Amino acid sequence: MSLSRRQFLKLTGGAAAGATAAVAGAPTARAAQVAQADAGRTTLPYIPKVIARAGQLRANVPLAFTFPDAASPCVVVKIGASVPGGVGPEGDIVAFSTLCTHMGCPVAYDLATREFKCPCHFSAFDAEKAGQMISGQATEKLPAIVLDYNASDGTVRAIAVDGLIYGRQANLL
Ligand code: FES
Repeated sequence: MSLSRRQFLKLTGGAAAGATAAVAGAPTARAAQVAQADAGRTTLPYIPKVIARAGQLRANVPLAFTFPDAASPCVVVKIGASVPGGVGPEGDIVAFSTLCTHMGCPVAYDLATREFKCPCHFSAFDAEKAGQMISGQATEKLPAIVLDYNASDGTVRAIAVDGLIYGRQANLL
């Protein structure tokens, strides 16, 4: 069977239009699904993780952990006096990502100043003020790990992250 040029164009043009509609329709349907799933959500679905018991923490001695996954190093530290965002019996337990927000170098806790300091380009972040930037090349605060304290068993859980972990487009991979 042979097709005229007109018949060929009619057939292939129709198929192309159908394919375009299918491609255009796919993301729209997916976006609608995502929008429906996210409707009303106010926090990301972090999986809470027990990171310490309040009684085991010593003042100004950081304890390392990872959250929300193994590729995200953090520390929890008992400051020794109530601070913004602090939990526990004294409201002095806070936690932060240890990846500098400038270029991702590991920051270290300085117990003398209660600051997290970056050895790469000397940024400093205030552990007593929710990780606020003090000085240096970074332009964002250190991401704070949102904590939850259970007074009945003394556990401290990481439940969310306040701020974007360095190198990520979203905290949850
Ligand atoms: S990586 Fe920390 S200041 Fe540059």
